[in-house]
Amino acid sequence: MRLKDKVAVITGAGMGMGREASVLFAEEGAKIIGLDVNAAALAETSSQVTQAGSEMLCVTGDVSSEADVKRAIDEGLAQFGKIDILYANAGVLWKDRDFSVLDTTEENWDIVQAINLKGPFFLTKHGIPALKQSGGGSIILVGSISALAGFELAQDSYTCAKGALISLTKSLAIQFGPDNIRTNIIHPGMIDTPLQAPYLDDQKKKDIASGIPVRRLGVARDIAYAALYLASDESTFCNGSELVVDGGFYAM
Ligand SMILES: NC(=O)c1ccc[n+]([C@@H]2O[C@H](COP(=O)([O-])OP(=O)(O)OC[C@H]3O[C@@H](n4cnc5c(N)ncnc54)[C@H](O)[C@@H]3O)[C@@H](O)[C@H]2O)c1
Repeated sequence: MRLKDKVAVITGAGMGMGREASVLFAEEGAKIIGLDVNAAALAETSSQVTQAGSEMLCVTGDVSSEADVKRAIDEGLAQFGKIDILYANAGVLWKDRDFSVLDTTEENWDIVQAINLKGPFFLTKHGIPALKQSGGGSIILVGSISALAGFELAQDSYTCAKGALISLTKSLAIQFGPDNIRTNIIHPGMIDTPLQAPYLDDQKKKDIASGIPVRRLGVARDIAYAALYLASDESTFCNGSELVVDGGFYAM
């Protein structure tokens, strides 16, 4: 029960890493406020959270809408009375629309920024006052190894948004450390989730795995365990840090 009596807001809780973290955090004693655009996916996560012995408030909404994010915080506070963890997980990777700066439309650039960068801005803007009321807490942002190394196949808006989250991590860590609020960022490598599914067949997965030192793709639980550590009181001296979880890919 590493998160006993804690309340976590998790964006993108409907699928992939967000669902896995919701279930793992629930197994460890947390109550979950899940925000996702996909109501059906959220409902499935919620039933898994219930099976894990906890409760989840489902908020259908878009992280790029300030009103939706504020509603998630307000409804979460009304239901559970406090918030301890903000996990800004929701993000999109649009390999079919987000390319090199030479080929990306302004509209697609802006949508990717709105979800991947403005979403965490809104979550922290409206969530930090609640963490202060709780006497402190943990903020977890999600970057990507592409923010550290770039993509071979350019997705410039995604890469820039994830890179900017590293800077936001440092700034929030310094601003709110004195309030007992820690901010850290996880950089996932290649993780087999619905986000990657449209771009991966079995052969492609084998090819990618052969280039990763541990010779496999990651699974959502690999990232959920990293998030669990950062969410728990075991990491109270981690602030402003970057945790790379990629099977050693970036080390090469
Ligand atoms: N899968 C990877 O290989 C990988 C690698 C590096 C970083 N990441 C990052 O990890 C995070 C989670 O990725 P994932 O692979 O679990 O993705 P996923 O697509 O499997 O799940 C993302 C969830 O976010 C929700 N979502 C999407 N747009 C939203 C919006 N505007 N508002 C609210 N919810 C929204 C989706 O409905 C979905 O439930 C993302 O930030 C992603 O960029 C993923």
